[in-house]
Amino acid sequence: MHLSHAALFVTTRKSPSEADVADARALATRHDLPFAPRSGRSIAHHVRDTGRPAALVVKADAIHLVTAEARYGFHPNMAARRVDGRGLQGDHFLRSAMIGPGDHVLDCTCGMGADAITAAHAVGPSGRVVALEAAPILGEIVSRGLARHDKGPPALIAAMRRVEHVTADARAFLATLPDRSFDVVAFDPMFARPRAGGHGLDLVRAFAVDAVPDRALLDAALRVARRCVVMADGTPGPRLAALSIPVVSRDRRKWWGRLDVPE
Ligand SMILES: C[S@@+](CC[C@H](N)C(=O)[O-])C[C@H]1O[C@@H](n2cnc3c(N)ncnc32)[C@H](O)[C@@H]1O
Repeated sequence: MHLSHAALFVTTRKSPSEADVADARALATRHDLPFAPRSGRSIAHHVRDTGRPAALVVKADAIHLVTAEARYGFHPNMAARRVDGRGLQGDHFLRSAMIGPGDHVLDCTCGMGADAITAAHAVGPSGRVVALEAAPILGEIVSRGLARHDKGPPALIAAMRRVEHVTADARAFLATLPDRSFDVVAFDPMFARPRAGGHGLDLVRAFAVDAVPDRALLDAALRVARRCVVMADGTPGPRLAALSIPVVSRDRRKWWGRLDVPE
């Protein structure tokens, strides 16, 4: 499922506050989307009225995508399993990039933010995680979730709040950064991802930018990294092989490769 911009309109919950309406109108204006005043009517009514099949329902603590099939929203469930007190030793992403307390991590492919949240937990309050997302609507949904979603254990909430989310393309953002300004630069692109999967993945699929990192992007990342650049791939790592990135960690569905920055 990929949603075009022309499929979307913006609305509120059925009985919105004035602040909800202003918030939703502002989002519609930012993204050049039609705003449909909810007026107590159903989403199906507005779908018929606007001729657009997908609503962005704007609330103070979340933005939901509502289609005839389902309601999608930010949820940190994938990170919750990784930040659950069992320890982070076995986490393939953290292990691949050797991420630990105090590190500064640039996640170039935020998506639903599971890797970014997990990294924010591992680096702790003395570290820093900046997470980039090129798809603007997904960026709105996830940045609001990271800042305002409040269900879950305190360690998970604290990690979410520490992620600095930026809606930007990695290539353009990297070009603005000084040399050696992050310990780790990470990529987890869309390719070779198994279909189906969880709720969160469906939301990412609706909006995601499906671009494969190339050598120039990796070189830009290597300039910005102090320690290493890591990239995920599906098994058996065809894109890692094509880019000559050594594989350092494998699980059943996902392989991680790492390029170390020379001393
Ligand atoms: C597979 S998802 C990442 C999942 C993420 N690692 C997680 O743990 O939830 C890939 C995301 O990266 C985004 N993306 C792809 N290329 C990008 C780029 N050049 N700059 C910024 N974001 C990009 C896509 O829009 C998509 O949301």
